[in-house]
Amino acid sequence: MSELALFGGPRAVPEYNEELFHWPRVNKEMEEAVLAVLRSGDMSGIGITRRFEKEFARWMGVDYALASPNGTGSLQEAMFSVGVGMNCEIISPSLTYWASCLPAVGLGARVVFADVEPDTLCLDPESFEAHITPRTKAVVVVHYLGHPADMDPIMEVARKHGVRVIEDVSHAQGGFYKGRRLGTIGDVGACSMMSGKSFSVGEGGMLYTNSRAVYEKALTFGHYERIDEIEDLKLPEGAGKLPWGGCKHRINQIASAMGLCQLKKYESEISEIDRAMKYFRDGVKDIPGLRMHYPEKWPNSTKAGWYAAKMFYDSSAFGGLSLTRFAEALRAEGVREAGGGCNAPLHLSTLFSKVDIYGGLGRPTANLFDPSDAAAQTGSLPVSEAANDRVISVPSFRRFMREEIDRYIEAYRKVAANCRELLAGDRGEKAEGKFFQF
Ligand SMILES: Cc1ncc(COP(=O)(O)O)c(C=O)c1O
Repeated sequence: MSELALFGGPRAVPEYNEELFHWPRVNKEMEEAVLAVLRSGDMSGIGITRRFEKEFARWMGVDYALASPNGTGSLQEAMFSVGVGMNCEIISPSLTYWASCLPAVGLGARVVFADVEPDTLCLDPESFEAHITPRTKAVVVVHYLGHPADMDPIMEVARKHGVRVIEDVSHAQGGFYKGRRLGTIGDVGACSMMSGKSFSVGEGGMLYTNSRAVYEKALTFGHYERIDEIEDLKLPEGAGKLPWGGCKHRINQIASAMGLCQLKKYESEISEIDRAMKYFRDGVKDIPGLRMHYPEKWPNSTKAGWYAAKMFYDSSAFGGLSLTRFAEALRAEGVREAGGGCNAPLHLSTLFSKVDIYGGLGRPTANLFDPSDAAAQTGSLPVSEAANDRVISVPSFRRFMREEIDRYIEAYRKVAANCRELLAGDRGEKAEGKFFQF
């Protein structure tokens, strides 16, 4: 009889242990902090939020931090604060969650996509440069799935062409690139803090920067009650007290209270995650055809929190076995999260190039100020388009539980060792990425 569970053998992971994956972790201090806000009725206040922002900025080593109700809002105000608006373009990697770039459309800008690098899955500096035009105002660099983007060449290109740099740190809060905190290398960092993220406050977003000008501009977007904080920015007479973005970006203080507690325990939590994930990585590293998505090539660079961990799958090392069939066998072994793919490449969505989003324009919103075809401007992005054929999920362990993790290692080893048995039933299906995951 086959050893593989798919064909009736014993499962490598007989039971799913929820504790291994449960996230976010809530401790007594957090519960009490949340209850205190509830009891005081001060959900719409600002004092706890200001403390949270101050502590967050201190953690990042920057001068300013500004919280919002979600990461999408923080990213939009980051775009606004570096000057993204009518008549300009932003460049975004295609392989990311939509909120890295779609908010720019709401500001009147066109989104042009660039490709990612095959090993980091983050913005490719060469593709970034190739997509710059005189209208490019900003680039959004996403530290995708926790992996730092190669910021040195990206910053070089950006400075050369006068392009502002926004770092989307939603997947990598607390991470480092060559010893520097992610989100502090470009002009402004922004991140999501929704429940699934490594740094979680339930729902929330944070913008952070060393630039007073960026911070003040961000305040004008949706923090209308804090306009009095503005010192340097010259506001037109009378307009200052209203939110220029027409948005209200005040975060619920329950989330800010959670954030303050989270700051105290986050570093120790991510060091446990790092230990668990590295233990798993070491357990599978000699399997030909599998390689973890991990920053090997630079010193002092981390995958803080290992958000939505992935590995690369090389089907030629498994006799041409499709990634989806390999993942099916893993799921039969009890690896629930084994599946193919990552985000669907955004440049293939016609929303960015063909749809008249707000109606009444009579042509695609992307052609608001430029009649040329937006999709053609992006062109084909081969690495992003092929990513779903070579990226496979890995369990995102949140606890270091050696024996439990050993079972998962055994599952990958078993499926790899018996891969030839899977070839017969392989329908060669492609993994489909989704626009809305991660
Ligand atoms: C890369 C990335 N950017 C931005 C966001 C948007 O953040 P939020 O969901 O908090 O609005 C997310 C996901 O949630 C994301 O994964």
